[in-house]
Amino acid sequence: MGAPMAEKRVLLIVAGGIAAFKVPELIRLLRGRGIGVTCVLTKAAAEFVTPLTLQTLSENRVYSEMFSLTDESEIGHIQLSRSADLVVVAPASANILARMAGGLADDLATTLLLATDKRVLVAPAMNVRMWDHAATVANMATLRSRGVGVIGPNSGMMACNEAGFGRMSEPEEILAAILAALEPGARPLAGLHALVTSGPTHEPIDPVRYIANRSSGKQGHAIAAALAALGARVTLVSGPVSVPDPVGVKVVRVETARQMLDASQAALPADIAVCAAAVADFRVASAAQGKIKKVPGAPPPAIELTLNPDILATLSAAGPSRPRLVVGFAAETDDVVAHAQQKRARKGCDWIVANDVRPETGIMGGEANAVHLATESGVEDWPMLPKSEVAARLAARIAQSIGKIA
Ligand code: C5P
Repeated sequence: MGAPMAEKRVLLIVAGGIAAFKVPELIRLLRGRGIGVTCVLTKAAAEFVTPLTLQTLSENRVYSEMFSLTDESEIGHIQLSRSADLVVVAPASANILARMAGGLADDLATTLLLATDKRVLVAPAMNVRMWDHAATVANMATLRSRGVGVIGPNSGMMACNEAGFGRMSEPEEILAAILAALEPGARPLAGLHALVTSGPTHEPIDPVRYIANRSSGKQGHAIAAALAALGARVTLVSGPVSVPDPVGVKVVRVETARQMLDASQAALPADIAVCAAAVADFRVASAAQGKIKKVPGAPPPAIELTLNPDILATLSAAGPSRPRLVVGFAAETDDVVAHAQQKRARKGCDWIVANDVRPETGIMGGEANAVHLATESGVEDWPMLPKSEVAARLAARIAQSIGKIA
């Protein structure tokens, strides 16, 4: 994604947290793009990752509290924070976010953050309860309102053995956000509108019961975020999910397949459509108006199903409002690649992203995905990647291709 960015410089502030173990990989990715990295460690960060590791990988001097007095006379914190093109805090602990929101300057890292005149991105990492705490919620709102960019956090299992939001984004996701912030050229989808469907649909049986599926919305939401990161204006039509709204994306919430179709059509015209939602194929032919009661001695009620509209096929149909590139998903349990190609033809879409959702793969609802991309020129097998990285790659491929299609 994007051209080498020699001459760009990132000031990387590393706060304390177990997620600091991902920082060496982030530095490696940045250096791989030719981006200069200067690291600043808080006192707590130095407990999790050594200055020597970061110095070796960044090929640059590392600043930490231990050396701050000499650094001050040699370089000056104002200069250190201003010679960078971008300031990134990763991991951003609850503590450093609170200090940023409060405008404190009680160590080298926060002094730099207060003195900088550059864009600041933060990648929060903390326990889920700390992330959900009213204090952190208020601090994040303050930082966002000041224009601080927020990457993640993701949800999943954390080092503290609790699950939920608070896991730092993967290095690839942070890299994508950094590239988008550094380089206007890394926004190749600027000016284009992308429609993304995500999550399951809920099809009512009666006012309290519904038919649903296990889709989490993680992959669709990550795709919406990745397209937005490349500059697209994104409308995300989402079924009921518990993942947070991606930043900078317009979210339209729906429950049923028919509502999802209506909202998708209302969002047209779009240049790109990615149908990642797990739309229920069937709905109850006529949902009961009142709660269906259990009648002693009577047989259980039969539920008659009827076919739902196919949103992907509808959007793919030729016509003036057909998006230039329509991408569908295929969740299969056997013959994944063959079914993907058949589905591409049947639905009339341009690409199919196929994945193997046999329960033993852990893909449905999980954090990672191994997909095959079926296009007009064949099938590519991608390795097992975090869903965010699948999204970033897909967005990059869309950016490459839409130029050709245009
Ligand atoms: O036919 P199947 O459900 O396997 O197709 C999956 C693809 O079609 C996904 O991209 C999904 O979002 C889309 N789809 C849809 N509307 C439906 C069923 C599937 O958009 N009713």
